[in-house]
Amino acid sequence: MDNLAAKIEAAEDLKTLEEVRIGIFGKKGVLAAEFARMKEIPNEEKRAFAQKLNTEKAKLTQLFEAKKMALEAKAIEEEMAADAVDVTMYHGHSSAGALHPVQETMNRMIDYFVALNFSVEEGPFVEDDFHNFEALNLPAHHPARDMQDTFYLKDGHVLRTHTSPVQIRTMQRQKPPIRMISPGSVFRRDFDLTHTPMFHQVEVLMVDEEGKISFANLKWILEDFLRYMFGDVKVRFRPSFFPFTEPSAEVDISCIFCAGKGCRVCSHTGWLEVLGSGMVDPNVFKAVGYEGVSGYAFGLGVERFAMLIHRIGDLRSLFEGDVRLLEQFR
Ligand code: PHE
Repeated sequence: MDNLAAKIEAAEDLKTLEEVRIGIFGKKGVLAAEFARMKEIPNEEKRAFAQKLNTEKAKLTQLFEAKKMALEAKAIEEEMAADAVDVTMYHGHSSAGALHPVQETMNRMIDYFVALNFSVEEGPFVEDDFHNFEALNLPAHHPARDMQDTFYLKDGHVLRTHTSPVQIRTMQRQKPPIRMISPGSVFRRDFDLTHTPMFHQVEVLMVDEEGKISFANLKWILEDFLRYMFGDVKVRFRPSFFPFTEPSAEVDISCIFCAGKGCRVCSHTGWLEVLGSGMVDPNVFKAVGYEGVSGYAFGLGVERFAMLIHRIGDLRSLFEGDVRLLEQFR
C-alpha cells in the first residue's frame, strides 16, 4: 500500500494523475480488490481489516485531492504563461482610429448648444404618423408631405424623415420653457451626389412665454452658430415655407470657397444654403397642448455641413467606409 501514496506523489500532470486514480480508486483498482478480500478474512479479523483499509483509503483520498489541486493550479499557470500577450511588442503597422467626419461635425454642433444650456434629446427612428407629420402641422393629404420622400412601414409607421418629431416628444414630456437640440439619423428615399437614404440632422428648438422669443433671437443664434461652424461668413435669410414654422426662412451663408464672389460650388450665386428655420407655428403648440408661448426652431443636415467644412464633393463617399478617405480625418 505504501507505493500507492508514492504513485500519487509522483504524478507530474493531470493526465497521469487520472490514470493513477483509476488504478487505485477505480472499479477494478487496488482498493476495490482489497475490499473484495474481506470474504476470505476470518470473521473475528474482519472489523480490524476493514478499519485499516478505510483509514488507508481516507489518507489516499486526501493525498489525491491535494495533488489534484496542485496540478490544476500548475496547469492554469502554464496556460496563462503560454497565452501571455506582450503589450510592449512593436507592431509596425497599427493605426489609430478617428471619429468619422459626420460624427465629429455633429459633436461640434452639440458642444455649441450644450454650452448655451440646451438639452440633448433623442427619439425613435421608427415614428408614428402623429409625431412625424400630424403634430407638425402636416395633416394627411397635405401637399407638403411630398417634400419628404418617406419610407413607410407596413403597419403605418414611418422611418422618421426629420428630427422634428423629437420637438413634439420633448414638448409632450416637458413644460415650457424648452431649450433643446435633437441630433440623430433620419431617412428619406433619395440617392444621388448630395442625398443618401440615411443621413443626420440636428434639430434646435427654443420655447418660452409668449413674446419672450422673437425672430431676433433666432437670427442672433443662427449667425453666431454659423460663424462658430464656418468662420467669418455672411448670413442671409430667405423667406420660405415649412408647415411647422411661420414665418419660415431658409438660411444661406456666403460661399466659403469663393468668399461670395461666385464659383462652381455655389452655382455662381456667392451663397450656400445651409438650413431651414422659423418661428414655431401655433398649430404645433396646439398639438402638444402648449398655450401662451412662442418659440423658434431650425433643422440642419449634418452631412451638408461636414461636406462644406471638409470640401467633400460626393456625399455617398462618407458612407462607403473607405479607409483612404477616412484616414484623412485623423
Ligand atoms: N424638419 C425640416 C426638414 O427636415 C427642417 C426644419 C426644422 C425647418 C425646423 C424648420 C424648422 O427639412
